Amino acid sequence: MPRNDIVIHPAKNVAGAVRLPGDKSISHRYAMLGALAEGTTRLRNFSTGADCASTLGVLSSVGVAIRRSEAVVEIEGSPWRAPRVPLDCGNSGSTMRMLSGMLAGQTFSSELTGDDSLSRRPMARVIEPLTKMGARIEASTGGRPPLRIVGCPLQAIDYRLPVASAQVKTAILFATLVAQGTTTVDEPVRTRDHGELALQAFGAEVMRNGNCVTMTGGQKLHAIEAAIPGDISSAAFFLCAAALFPGSNLLLDSVLMNPTRAALLDVLMGMGCRIAVVNLEEHHGELVGSVAVEGAVLKGATIAGALSAALIDELPVLAAIAPYTTEGIEIRDARELRVKESDRIAAVAANLRAMGATVEEREDGLLVPGNQQLHGAEVDSAGDHRIAMAFAVAALRATGDTLIRGAGAAQISYPEFFSTLEALVER
Ligand code: S3P
Repeated sequence: MPRNDIVIHPAKNVAGAVRLPGDKSISHRYAMLGALAEGTTRLRNFSTGADCASTLGVLSSVGVAIRRSEAVVEIEGSPWRAPRVPLDCGNSGSTMRMLSGMLAGQTFSSELTGDDSLSRRPMARVIEPLTKMGARIEASTGGRPPLRIVGCPLQAIDYRLPVASAQVKTAILFATLVAQGTTTVDEPVRTRDHGELALQAFGAEVMRNGNCVTMTGGQKLHAIEAAIPGDISSAAFFLCAAALFPGSNLLLDSVLMNPTRAALLDVLMGMGCRIAVVNLEEHHGELVGSVAVEGAVLKGATIAGALSAALIDELPVLAAIAPYTTEGIEIRDARELRVKESDRIAAVAANLRAMGATVEEREDGLLVPGNQQLHGAEVDSAGDHRIAMAFAVAALRATGDTLIRGAGAAQISYPEFFSTLEALVER
C-alpha cells in the first residue's frame, strides 16, 4: 500500500503529553517580516509543515538569506531582488495572499504560482484591495492563480473587508509597510490578529479601535528572536481525540492561547470536557500556555456567526466527532469552508457518510445529528491536510479499521501528526 494511505485502528483511550511544532499562521508572518526587517531574525520551533517551507522558499527566491537547522530558522532581512523563477507557493494560500501585498510594492515583477488546489482558490479578495492601493496584479480567469505582479509604488487605503479573512487583512497591512500614507482595515468580525501582533513585535506601530486596524506606511522593522508557540489548530486534533474518551488525560505543552484562536477550548468545555490552562505567559504579544484536557460524554453544540469565523480551521474535526455527541453539532455561516484547500463541507459530509453517518450538507455548513456509531470505512483526504487529520480522529471511536486515502496531505501543516497520534492512543 502506498505510504500516502494510512489505516487507523480503533482506540480505547488517549493519554500522554505532547509538544507541538510552531503555529503555522505565526511562522508565516514572522518569516515574512523577518525578511524585510533590519538584522537577523532567529525563530525557534518554526512550523515543520510544507506550507511554511513554501514561504521560506519564496523568500529565498527574492534574495533573502535563510539558514535552517532542526532547532532554528535564521532570516537575514535585506532588500529583495527580482526572482529568476516563478515563486512557487505550493499548497499555501497564506503564502500567496500575504506575500502578494509585499511583492506588489517592490521595484520588480514577479509571478506567484501554486499546486492544483491553490490554483483553484479565490485571489480576487486580495487583488481588489491591493489594486485600490495602486498595485498591478493579473490573475487567471475568475481571479485564480497564477498571479502576475508588476511592482510599483503603493498608496495606503481605507478598506472594509467584504469577507472575514485574516489573510486578506494581513496582506493589506503588509502592503502598507511598503506604501505611502495611513491604512485602515475594517473587518466585519474579529479575525486572528497575528499580523497586527507580529508587526508590533518587529517594532511597527499598529493601532486597533474596535474592528478597525490602522497603520502608517514606511515604518522600519527590527529583527526579533522568538520561540513560536505550539500550533493550536494542530493541537485541535488531539484535543478532540481526547474529548472522545471519558477516561482520557492529555497535556499539551506551550500551545498558542491567543483569544482569537482559542475558541475551541470554550466549545469543548461547553460540550462537557474538563480543560485547564496553566503557565500562561505572553511572548511578543502572543499568549502561550499549557492545556490539560479530560474527555467526557460529549453534549452537542451550535456554531454560527463570529464563532464560525473564529473556528474556521477547527470545524472539520468538530464535524468529524459530532456523531459521537449526544445532541449533534450544527455549523452555520461557514461558507468559507468551501474555498479552503478542499471544499471542506463536501469532504466532511462524504467521509461521514462513508463511515455510516447521516449528515445534512448545507451551502454554508453542516448538521450532524448525535448518537451515531461510525464504522470503519475507506475515506479520502481530498488532498487536504485538515480532512486527513480530522478523520484519523473520527476513526479512533469507529468500529473496525479506517483507511484514509491521501493521508500524506497532513505534511502540509503537521508532518509528525500520525506518529504523534499513535504514541498517544491506547488500544
Ligand atoms: C489564516 C487565516 C484563515 C485560515 C488559514 C490561516 C491566517 O484563512 O483558514 O488556515 O494565517 O491568516 P482566511 O483568512 O482565508 O479565513
